[in-house]
Amino acid sequence: MELTTQKHRSFEPSDDARAGANIAGMEAYRALVAQAEHDYEGFWARLARETIEWHEPFSKVLDESNAPFYTWFEDGELNASYNCLDRHVAAGHGERVAIIFEADDGAVTRVTYAQMLARVSRLANALKRRGIARGDRVVIYMPMSVEGIVAMHACARIGATHSVVFGGFSAKSLHERIVDVGAVAIITADEQMRGGKTLPLKPIVDDALAMGGCEAVESVIVYRRTGGEIAWNAGRDCWMHDVVANESDVCEPEWVGTEHPLFILYTSGSTGKPKGVQHSTGGYLLWAAQTMKWTFDWKREDVFWCTADIGWITGHTYIAYGPLALGATQVVFEGVPTYPNAGRFWKMIDDHQVSLFYTAPTAIRSLIKAAEADERVHPARYDLSSLRIIGTVGEPINPEAWLWYRQHVGALRCPVVDTWWQTETGGHMITPLPGATPTVPGSCTLPLPGIMAAVVDETGQDVPDGQGGILVVKRPWPSMIRTIWGDAERFTKSYYPQELGGALYLAGDGAVRDTNTAYFTITGRIDDVLNVSGHRLGTMEIESALVSHELVAEAAVVGRPDETTGEAVVAFVVLKRGCPRGEEAAQLAKALRDWVGKEIGPIAKPKDIRFGDNLPKTRSGKIMRRLLRSLAKGEAIAQDTSTLENPDILNQLGQAR
Ligand code: WTA
Repeated sequence: MELTTQKHRSFEPSDDARAGANIAGMEAYRALVAQAEHDYEGFWARLARETIEWHEPFSKVLDESNAPFYTWFEDGELNASYNCLDRHVAAGHGERVAIIFEADDGAVTRVTYAQMLARVSRLANALKRRGIARGDRVVIYMPMSVEGIVAMHACARIGATHSVVFGGFSAKSLHERIVDVGAVAIITADEQMRGGKTLPLKPIVDDALAMGGCEAVESVIVYRRTGGEIAWNAGRDCWMHDVVANESDVCEPEWVGTEHPLFILYTSGSTGKPKGVQHSTGGYLLWAAQTMKWTFDWKREDVFWCTADIGWITGHTYIAYGPLALGATQVVFEGVPTYPNAGRFWKMIDDHQVSLFYTAPTAIRSLIKAAEADERVHPARYDLSSLRIIGTVGEPINPEAWLWYRQHVGALRCPVVDTWWQTETGGHMITPLPGATPTVPGSCTLPLPGIMAAVVDETGQDVPDGQGGILVVKRPWPSMIRTIWGDAERFTKSYYPQELGGALYLAGDGAVRDTNTAYFTITGRIDDVLNVSGHRLGTMEIESALVSHELVAEAAVVGRPDETTGEAVVAFVVLKRGCPRGEEAAQLAKALRDWVGKEIGPIAKPKDIRFGDNLPKTRSGKIMRRLLRSLAKGEAIAQDTSTLENPDILNQLGQAR
C-alpha cells in the first residue's frame, strides 16, 4: 500500500486474524459503514435490538429535537446489571467464570456469573435498606477489586447513578466530586494494596467528609480489604460484609428508561473544575458491548484483560460493563505492572491464558525500558502464545513503542488496535478492526461504522486530507455524553461550540487524515488539557492548586513531551517573597510538588518546577504560554518576544530544577 503522509509501512491482518472475525475484511467493514450512511437510525436500531435485552422495546431511535441534548431509544426500558448478569445466568451460563481476580500479592480468585449476580443482588438489597433509591447518586472510591465492580452493578441494579472516583485522588478532589454530584452514600474500602504497600482509602473519605457540605451523605459502606486500623463513625459507617450478611441474593432489577443516567464520571477540562460527564444506560451499554465484538473481535473462548482502573472510563466500559454485557471471562488486576517485577503483565498473560490484552502506551514504554535493562523481565521470557489481539488506549502511542509491542508482545502475529476515544464518547470511536484494517504504527486508522468523525478548521469547514485540523464527530451516536452534570450550559459550550456552527461534537484533539488511506492520526490536545501517563489533567486545576499554597503568588502550568509518560507537567511559579535559589529552591520545589499531590492527587505532581520573579507577560498582562512551552522543552526561544513586558524573565525561567 502506498502511504503518502505516513512514514511507516502498514501491516495487513493475517489470514488467521481475518478468518472468522466478527468483521472479516475491509469489504465487511465498508458494508457496515455504508449501512450506517444509508439508514443511520436503522443501523443503530438493529444493533440496539441485537446487543441489549430490553424490558420494554423502544419505538423511537434518535431524537434531535432538543439538540445538542440528543436522546436515543428513549421510550425503551432496561437494566444494565440485568443485561450484564441475569441474562447470562438465565441462558445457562451461571457457572462460567466472569472474573479471574489477581490480587497485588498474586492470590487468584475466580467469580462466576451466578456468584456475581448473587453478590450484586445482596449489596443492591443492602443499599435499598439504607434508603438509597433510583436517581440517587453514590460515590464509589474503591481499589481495583471484585467488590468495586459489584458496587457499580449494585447501583445500576436499583437505578442509582454511580460516580466512581479514582483511588489515587486526594481528599480535596474527592470532596469536590462528592459535593458536586450530591452523593447520598459512599462505597469505599479500608485501604488498598498496590505494589506491596498499603495506601489509605477510608481515612481519605473521612477527611473529605470533614471538609463540609456533604450532609447528604448518610452511609459510608466499607469493604474490608486489609484490616488496617481506621477511624469509625458509628452512625454513618458500616462494613460491607455486615450490611450484606442477611440480605437475600435475589433483587428484582429496577427497570429504567434508556436515557436514565447510569453514571457520572468526572474528567478534566481546559477551564475550571472537573466536569461530571453524564452517561445514559441504553446507548452506553450498547456501545460498550458492540465495541467488544468489533474492536476486540470478542468470542466466547477469549480471556480478556484490560489493565485500566475502574476509576477511569476505560475501566467502566472495558471492565465493568462491556465484557460482562457479553458474558465474557476477564482478568481483573489489583496491583501495578512493576511489582514484584516488571514481568508481572507478561506472567499474568501466561498464567491466565489471556487472549485479548488492552493497556496504555505509558505502561508499554515503561516495560520496554525495564525489559531492556533486565532481560529477566523481557516478554520473550514468558509464553505469550495465548494472545490473539493486543490494544492500546489513552494517549498517542509513538511508532517505536507500537513496533516493540507488536514484535515482542504480539509476536508479529497479533493485530495491534490503537483505540482513540474519550470519557465523553463512552466507547471506542476510531480504531483498527483486527480482522480487517491494515494497521500503521501511530495511527488509530478509521472510524468505527456509524461514527462520523472528520477533521475541520476553526470555522467548522472540512479540511483536505493531509492537512491538520480539529477532530469532530458530525452526527450524534448512542454512547455519547448526555450533559455535564449540573451544568448544561458548559456542556453546550464545551462540546458544541458556536464557532464550529453548533452542530459538530468537538473532541478537543487535533488530527490529520492521510491523503491515501484516510487514516486518522491524533496530534494531541488542542486545549489546555495535559495527558500524563494517559491521565487527563487540566493545567488550570494544577495552577489553582499551586496558588492555593500560602507562599505562591502566581503559577502557570504547561506540558512537555516525556519519553515515558507521554507528557510531563512543568510548573512556573512566582513566590510572594521573591525568587528562591539553590538548596532553598530545591526544598520549595519538593514542598510544592507534595502540595499538589495532596490537593489533587499524586498523578498531578509537576515533574519540574521553575521559580522566577515573574511570568512572561504581554503588556496587557496576559501570560505567554507558548513561550513557557518552549522554555519547558528547553528550546531556544525563536518566537517574537517584542510584545513581552519583561523579556529578561525568560533567562531566569529557563533554568530547570
Ligand atoms: C487521548 C481515555 C491518541 C486524547 C479513553 C483524548 C488518545 C483523551 C488515544 C481522552 C489514542 C485517548 N491516541 N490519543 N488512541 N486515546 N487519547 O477521557 O487526547 O481519559 O481526547 O479517555 O486521551 O482521555 P480520557
